Order: sequence, then C-alpha cells, then structure tokens
Amino acid sequence: MNVLRFADLVAAGRVTGQRVFIRADLNVPQDDAGRITEDTRIRASVPCIEMALKAGAAVMVTSHLGRPTEGEFKPEDSLAPVAARLGELLGREVPLKSAWVDGVEVAPGQVVMLENCRLNKGEKKNSEELARQMAALCDIFVHDAFGTAHRAEASTYGIAQFAPVACAGPLLAAEIDAITKALAAPRRPLVAIVAGSKVSTKLTILQSLAKNVDGLVVGGGIANTFMLAAGLKIGKSLAEPDLVGEAQAVIAAMAARGAEVPIPVDVVCAKTFAADAPATVKAATEVADDDQILDIGPKTAQMLADKLMAAGTIVWNGPVGVFEFDAFAHGTETVARAVAASSAFSIAGGGDTLAAIAKYGIEREVGYISTGGGAFLEVLEGKTLPAFEILAKRAAG
Ligand code: 3PG
Repeated sequence: MNVLRFADLVAAGRVTGQRVFIRADLNVPQDDAGRITEDTRIRASVPCIEMALKAGAAVMVTSHLGRPTEGEFKPEDSLAPVAARLGELLGREVPLKSAWVDGVEVAPGQVVMLENCRLNKGEKKNSEELARQMAALCDIFVHDAFGTAHRAEASTYGIAQFAPVACAGPLLAAEIDAITKALAAPRRPLVAIVAGSKVSTKLTILQSLAKNVDGLVVGGGIANTFMLAAGLKIGKSLAEPDLVGEAQAVIAAMAARGAEVPIPVDVVCAKTFAADAPATVKAATEVADDDQILDIGPKTAQMLADKLMAAGTIVWNGPVGVFEFDAFAHGTETVARAVAASSAFSIAGGGDTLAAIAKYGIEREVGYISTGGGAFLEVLEGKTLPAFEILAKRAAG
C-alpha cells in the first residue's frame, strides 16, 4: 500500500525539531485495581516513540483506553498506568497531560502522553472541529495504532486528513506488510485457521478466504456448523443450524477451486460444559444426542497438523477447542505446536489466539503476531481499513 512511512521521514531528516503526534493503540487489559495484566501493545508501541525521540522530535503520544463516555472523566479511564509502564520501558518519565486539545507544551527530545483521547467530545463521531484542533498541535501525524486502524475517529482519521503531514508508524507498517505477505503474495499452500464460537461473526471472513486459500480449517462452534453442513450429527453442541446453507456454500466455493475445508473425523465430547466434565473421544459419526463437542479428536488434530506442516503460509485466528479446560485443549495445543514447527510463514491474531500462543509458549516460533483484534479480522475480510485509506489518500497528494 502506498503510504508515507515515518521511518522514511526520519531517514530524510524531516523529523528533527518537529512536533510529532503519535496515535498508538495502548488499549491494554487491566485488573480491578487498574494494574495492567498484559502489555504487548505498549511494548509494540515503543519503537515508534523511540524513533521520534532519537530523531529529536517533540513527541506527543495518545491512545484510547476502553470505551468511556465522552466529556465525563472517571479515574478508571485514565492512561496513568499506561504512562507509568511506558516510562519504565523507555527508561524516562512520561508526563501525562489532561485537557490537551487546546495546546500541549513539549520540547524537542521530550515525550508526553495525552490523556485518553476518547474522553474528548466528538472523538467517536470523527468531529471535524476536534480533528482540526488536534491536527493543529503537530507538524507530523503518525498513525501507529493498528489495533484501531478499523475505526474512523477524530484521532485516527480526521487528524490524518488535516495534519500538515500524515504517515504510518513502524507498527502500522509492519502489520500491513505481514498481512500482505500472508494474503496477497503467499507462499503456497496457504492454509487459514478460522475458529470461534459462531459462523455468523466470521461468515464474511470465511467467504473472503474461500476465494484465496488452499485449505480452510474451521474450529470450535464454527466447525460444528460445518459438520452439520456435511451431514453429521452434533448432539447438543454449540452451532448455528440456520447458517448451514452458508457453510455449504463455503465448502462448495472451496471445492470448485480444488481447495478443501477439512471436516473433523473424530471429536472430544462431554455431557456438560465444565472443566471437570469427563472427556470422551468419538468418531465424528458417533456423536450422541446429549453430547457436546468441546474439541477436535486426536486423528483430526494430526490430520490438521500434517496440513500445517506442509503449508507455505498459515493465517491463524481462533482456538479449535475449549483450550481453557485441559481435557479439551489437545486439539488447540496440537495446532499451536504444528504452527510453531512448520517452516511456513505464519501470522496470528485475535485475543483467544494470542492466549493460546502464550499458553503453549510459542511466541518466538510464530512469524508475526498481530496486535489487532477487530482490525485483524477486518483485514482478513478483505476490507481496506480507514487508516490505510486516508494515509494512502494523503500520500497521493
Ligand atoms: C481493540 O481492543 O480491539 C482496539 O483497541 C479497538 O478498541 P474498540 O473496539 O473499543 O474500538
């Protein structure tokens, strides 16, 4: 995608002494006491900030945190814990500025954090007035918030329209480069794993991938609906019978291209949805009326692992079973270990997928781990995200 890149501006010496406004996605999970429980997004945002500081810019960084009510500050909406964590990672204090829209004091070589941008009235609806005020704070706007790249808000879209210069930060650029490598020019076979509880939430992704991938592995409740589509019984398992026709259409679209949607040949069942429910491995043709399928069986897991080992590219979104319960984690663990062991270029995204990657400790073996949740899914759907649309428009002049 043809967008201006911040790294190129730095290399061209165009950043020194400039006021640089970085929109990051520092929307991290916190516990009830406000402590950050997972800081990947903060760590992923550090290279851009360090790049700007090293280049001698006056740096402002902001993010949303949660979905607060605009204009109504509550302590739990504050970026204070994020500023503190960022300060630790940068090895310097990161002062937090509130009421910053009308002006920010920051000198070259300094970094300040601007309080939760979703507290500003007009942020969500991309108010032009707010966007122009924010744009006036800077010489260069850097969009580095891949996790928010699917939102067109004042701090992600409007400011990019009106800032003197608007460019992509290194994280945003790395994310789109990795996804483009996986989907636009993949080493084949390209295998996608799309799993989760509902076909309805991922139907457009399945339809879009069915036009491109060589193997489409479905898992979780999505696989149950596909088993129904293949004429199998699934007992009391989570599924969407009204979407069986859509699932059949995806299978047919894949088959017409000589590609396949592997249907489980065996499954792990329980009578109740519980961590201590006795787990029984059954052939996919033997699921009883009162069974719930909570994982793929060992033969299916091995069949999928073989496909992943032979893949050239893997795109992974979603665990294939209830991996939070040890008795139903074998399928997801087998898939995770195959992704890790495969020589394929792999890209993974989505909260549950990241939790599975962490559980099996395979972070280093995955080619690229996306910081995007909804944004990652929308790219898989084949959408052009607003962030890239506006940055490309600005790059075109
Ligand atoms: C996310 O957590 O997926 C991003 O930070 C976007 O958050 P949002 O869904 O509240 O826009």
